[in-house]
Order: sequence, then C-alpha cells, then structure tokens
Amino acid sequence: MKNRVMSSVYMQWAKTRQGARFNLATSGLITYPLSALPVKLEDLAPLARGGGYGYPPLQEALASHCGVSVDNVVAADGTSMANYLAMAAILQPGDEVLVEHPTYELLLAALGNLQAEIRRFPRLPENGFALDPAEIERAVTPRTRMIVITNLHNPSSAFAGEAGLRAIGEIARRVNARVLMDEVYLDAAFEIEPRSAFHLGPEFVATNSLTKVYGLSGLRCGWVLAEPELARRMWLLNDLFGVNQAHPAERISTIALRNFEPVRKWSRALLERNRQLLNGFLATRSDLDVRPLQFGTVVFPRLLTGSVDKFCELFRQKYEGTVVPGSFFEMPDHFRMGIGGESEGLALSLKQLGVALDEFRSLATTA
Ligand SMILES: Cc1ncc(COP(=O)(O)O)c(C=O)c1O
Repeated sequence: MKNRVMSSVYMQWAKTRQGARFNLATSGLITYPLSALPVKLEDLAPLARGGGYGYPPLQEALASHCGVSVDNVVAADGTSMANYLAMAAILQPGDEVLVEHPTYELLLAALGNLQAEIRRFPRLPENGFALDPAEIERAVTPRTRMIVITNLHNPSSAFAGEAGLRAIGEIARRVNARVLMDEVYLDAAFEIEPRSAFHLGPEFVATNSLTKVYGLSGLRCGWVLAEPELARRMWLLNDLFGVNQAHPAERISTIALRNFEPVRKWSRALLERNRQLLNGFLATRSDLDVRPLQFGTVVFPRLLTGSVDKFCELFRQKYEGTVVPGSFFEMPDHFRMGIGGESEGLALSLKQLGVALDEFRSLATTA
C-alpha cells in the first residue's frame, strides 16, 4: 500500500506565492460585493442552529438551484470538501481510480490521501484538451472504481457535452465504477447553460460550489449531488470533520441562492468582457500556442519560447506579475492564467504579461 499523501504542493504555493500586483493566477472571480446581496444583520440571527443533517432552508435552496431532490444534496465546505467527501465515501484504500491528465492537483492529492491506486487517461492539447471517451475506454480496467473528470476542465476550460459524458457513464456502469464530475467551473458556460452530469444517471456524482464562478468564495458554500443512499453515507462521514458549517455562512448562502439572478448577471457580464480582452490579447501572441477561450475563467497556453519556470520567475521578479506554472498540472511547458479579475485590472495585467513575454522572447533569441 502506498504512503498517504499528507499535503498539496499546489495549495501551499497558491496560499503563499500567488499574490502579486498583476495577478493572473487565480481561477475564480473577484468577490461579489456583500452590499449587493439583500442581507441585513438581523438575517444572520440566531448565530447557531440546532442539529440535524444540513440547514433545511439551504438544502431546499440548493436542491432548487440544481433541479434535484433535497435528499440528493450534501452540503460541504466548498468544492474541495465536496470532492473529498465524495471520494472518501466511495473508495477503499487500494481502489483503482482513473483521473484525467492534466488535472487539478488537489484531486490527485485527495486521492493520494485516501491511498487510491491512480491511473491516468490523457486530454490532449492538440485536441484542445477535449474529453475523449475512447481514451477512458483504453485506460479502464475491471478494477476501476471511479473516474474523475473536471468540467469545465481545469486547467484548459474545455467543455465536455452530454453525448461524451453518457458514453463515459456506460463505461463506468459496465465496470461498476462511479464518475466523479467536478463542476466548479461549469456554470461559467453561461451561453449554453449546461445542466449537471448528475442528471445523466446514478453512476454520476457531481460536486460544485458558489466559490469560483459567482465570486462568493468566502461563504464556502459547496455541495455534492449523489443518489440518496450515497448522499447519506457522505453526511455520516462528514460528522468526522465538523458538526455543521458556519451558520451565518449558511444563512447568507441561502439568501444569495434565493436572489440569484443579479449574481448570475454580474458574473456573466464580467466574464464576457474579460474573455474579449483575453482573446484579443491571445490573437497578438505568436509565442503562445492556445485556442481562443470559449467559456470559463482560465486558459492554458503552451509557451513556445523557452522554460515556463524561467518565464514565471522573470514575470514575478521584474514585472510583479504571476501566472500558474504548468508544472502544477504536470505540463511544465504550459502555464495557466485566469480572467476573473476587474476588467480594468485584467487589461493592465495582460499588457504587463505581453511586455514580459516580449522581453523573454528577445532573451531567448539573443541567448
Ligand atoms: C477543479 C477544482 N475543483 C475544486 C476547487 C476548489 O474549489 P472550492 O474553492 O469551492 O473549494 C478548485 C479551485 O481552484 C478547482 O479548480
């Protein structure tokens, strides 16, 4: 049995190294203003609630938000805890799990903590990181107990539609595995309003939160969607980690979900503006290999002019900027940049990135 993974290298980096004046490293939106939510101080009282599994008004608001029954919803602290609960409720140590490559490092770290046997299937840059069921078919074995997918894909934001997901659901059913869909970025595909893969069949377990797409990270409002018996196992498992979530956060989350249209509009408008800025910038860069961003909050270009780690060092030291090195996604010739900031700040950051890339290219050609 493998040693347990006890930390996340990416999270340590994100918590200690990400901040910079020109910050293109974050994957979520800037914080939605509290003053824009219809919350009064008295709405937060009482500060504590009685026992039970979940805060009933929040459970109902989440079920209505996701179009599911209340007994399908397990509230969790962000998508991070939602993922951990889903994995830990389903897997035994040594179980085989198939994970996309590249992926979000925390998914691998959580599986490592649970001592899963991790196998990989590729999402290929030459195909725009599209999810290909044939790659899963090739990698799956009779021992596979779980298939882990992000949709939209972190780091590329590639979207996986229902036809491909249904094919993956059939593969999972054949070998008696579950499909864990991390959908924390899915709502950022505003134009097509995709529904959760949870609706595609009982083998699908989906996780999500209000943290990334809606700028409500501070509430830590996350959830798992699962069939009731599995959902119940997650609630019981969650007893090991905490009695319940911070109650004022549960109350604010409920109010936000009941008054969600302005939040949705704000996010959609910000991302539309910022995507235009990003795609305008990318069109000017022959040193970056990447498709224009269609949906989502992050993009994952390949740098054609030298070492990404050296570029990141230059960008930080000389230009006060930051992006996420691709090594955190096991693709060291790429880097990830996020577009969830204020549009004005994003425009400045992209300009700064362009100047840094120009200098880096000229250093490479004179070296
Ligand atoms: C794919 C993915 N899942 C989960 C998370 C964590 O989300 P949360 O802040 O809701 O815990 C992130 C954060 O970057 C992510 O990229």
